[in-house]
Amino acid sequence: MGAEQNHKEGAFEVREFRAEDAAAASEILREARESASWSCQALVEFMPLPGAVALMSERAGRPTGFVLGRLVADEAEVLNLAVCEECRRQGEGRALLVELLRRFAESGVSRVFLEVRESNLGAIDFYERMGFRQSGRRADYYREPQEAALVYERTQESTSLVPKTS
Ligand SMILES: CC(C)(COP(=O)(O)OP(=O)(O)OC[C@H]1O[C@@H](n2cnc3c(N)ncnc32)[C@H](O)[C@@H]1OP(=O)(O)O)[C@@H](O)C(=O)NCCC(=O)NCCS
Repeated sequence: MGAEQNHKEGAFEVREFRAEDAAAASEILREARESASWSCQALVEFMPLPGAVALMSERAGRPTGFVLGRLVADEAEVLNLAVCEECRRQGEGRALLVELLRRFAESGVSRVFLEVRESNLGAIDFYERMGFRQSGRRADYYREPQEAALVYERTQESTSLVPKTS
């Protein structure tokens, strides 16, 4: 991961993920029913892998959001993203994703992919707002409950077009 870099937007701060954040990040994902759960152990094991990028957001020192991605050559994937329920719709998810995309772009990534449950309309609106466009659908991709995944893609040429405000 790159150098420590903090971004402040209003009441929250986006910062580099640290190993000691794994339990809090896992808890944020567990509480956000729409996102895939990752155990603390799974996060700790994933982070040293090549291309892993993770960021936390926090308010007054309390972790409130988490995003996880991975890049391989010039392509990358957003693997997970969640913001605590009481902190949503305040720009935190956007700030996490913008910073992740910025880091991907800095590393030469030209295409970013993600999968989202077909029923997760809030996240779909969010990703579309962030410049992602649907490029596919995988039937029966998810379990518990079984559901299709929509595949979304974003070209990095549009990175600079991420809206600064809603
Ligand atoms: C998706 C998620 C991370 C968005 O985080 P957030 O901090 O609430 O998002 P932001 O406040 O940055 O939203 C930016 C814009 O995205 C759109 N948006 C965000 N959430 C939305 C929702 N539930 N419904 C419709 N549009 C939404 C809006 O245009 C919003 O701007 P606005 O609030 O000014 O209208 C959050 O809803 C979440 O944690 N959801 C549960 C986990 C999840 O679904 N993760 C994705 C798994 S693939």
